[in-house]
Amino acid sequence: MRGVDMIVAPSLLSADFANLERDIKRVEQAGADWLHIDVMDGHFVPNITIGVPVVKSIKKAASVPLDVHLMIENPENYVEAFLDAGADIITFHYEAVADPEALIQKIRLLGGHAGVSIKPKTPPEVLKGLTPNLILIMTVEPGFGGQAFMPECAEKITTVKRNAPKGTIIQVDGGINEQTGKICADLGATSLVAGNYIFKSDDFVRAIMSLRGGQNGK
Ligand code: DX5
Ligand code: ZN
Repeated sequence: MRGVDMIVAPSLLSADFANLERDIKRVEQAGADWLHIDVMDGHFVPNITIGVPVVKSIKKAASVPLDVHLMIENPENYVEAFLDAGADIITFHYEAVADPEALIQKIRLLGGHAGVSIKPKTPPEVLKGLTPNLILIMTVEPGFGGQAFMPECAEKITTVKRNAPKGTIIQVDGGINEQTGKICADLGATSLVAGNYIFKSDDFVRAIMSLRGGQNGK
């Protein structure tokens, strides 16, 4: 599905952290639907990024929903703090919890929208029976921006879509650009996360528009 229905979420991991407010305004003015925020703990993934206080500051500068991607162990211990800090959508990793449905319900009970993500080696069938608002299919090993898109991961979109409750947002993250975004959109993705492709571009409007399939959608 292309055009107005594609939710484009620039990943702030590729923004200039010394000028975060400026970069947030720039992508918002260029048409970003959500801001994607990558939280890493150095355990679940081999990198450390940002935590609750920074999300709180981002909330003050932002006017679109905050899409918080938790790449951390024991996410159940932190969802409340991230929701209090202003997260609108909280996506945790299937691989990081014992009972994903319980955490989906907890996030919802606390007033958030719940997302579940799978890493490249996790089969799509594990998500069957879960009722998140969003499913995030990683198309790179989580941990770093700027990696190459793995097409075999995008192929999971079809199975995920077939098994998910109707209306579940199907999001893809990792190595997304105009070409790989089109592959995912054609397979049924309804949200694209992009870090380097947007922030390293000299025309944010054009980059975001291209992820909508060339239409401005707004
Ligand atoms: C990777 C993160 C991504 C990353 C995407 O672990 O989850 O959100 O920022 O960056 P690009 O689009 O540059 O691959
Ligand atoms: Zn992410």
